[in-house]
Amino acid sequence: VVKACIFDLDGVLVDTARYHYLAWKRLAKEMGFDFTEEDNERLKGVSRMRSLEILLDIGKINVSEKQKLELAERKNSWYVEYISKMNESEILPGVNDFLNLLRKSDIKIAVASASKNAKIIIEKTGLGKYLDILVDGTQIQNAKPDPEIFLKASQLLGVKPENCVVFEDSIAGIKAAKAAGMKCIGVGDSEKLWMADKVIPDFLGVDLKVLDFEGGV
Ligand code: BG6
Ligand code: MG
Repeated sequence: VVKACIFDLDGVLVDTARYHYLAWKRLAKEMGFDFTEEDNERLKGVSRMRSLEILLDIGKINVSEKQKLELAERKNSWYVEYISKMNESEILPGVNDFLNLLRKSDIKIAVASASKNAKIIIEKTGLGKYLDILVDGTQIQNAKPDPEIFLKASQLLGVKPENCVVFEDSIAGIKAAKAAGMKCIGVGDSEKLWMADKVIPDFLGVDLKVLDFEGGV
């Protein structure tokens, strides 16, 4: 039985993946190279510093550790500028209805996000009213695909991993959920997210049947 749903935030409940992309692209442009949407897939679910390293690798650029911190800080200041303007209209289609269904059926709701900005986004969009708990990038040591973030969520919820279902839009996140011993539903393109137990394109029209898995949870 499913007793809790754990949601990734960026790209699952809200379209912040777009803002991360814009900020990284702006940084790449300043350094003199192009950063495409395809490149951006590799950054989804990945921590800020690791994302920067991948970006620098794509641009074939070498910088000192100190410069890395400055670059990450610059990207983040643009990103924070974008997300500070968010409101509830940026919750992705179908999400409010699905979260309401979970609330009514006493299924617990968590957000587990690698982002250190998760709190601002949740505040700006009003998603907080649905949540039992939030685990964000400030509370973990090991980034996805390590299972730490999901195991921490399961512990704080008091629900065993085998009774948790994770919703993820990134490959790193799906790997983390599987490593935590949880079922995982990919949100997005099924060709990219084939590692998940099932994939939905978005939350439009999704009801509790999505939580039925062959062989059960
Ligand atoms: C994840 C995003 O949710 O958070 C990544 O998918 C991002 O793209 C990561 O790099 C860290 O976010 P932040 O806000 O701490 O830089
Ligand atoms: Mg995501």
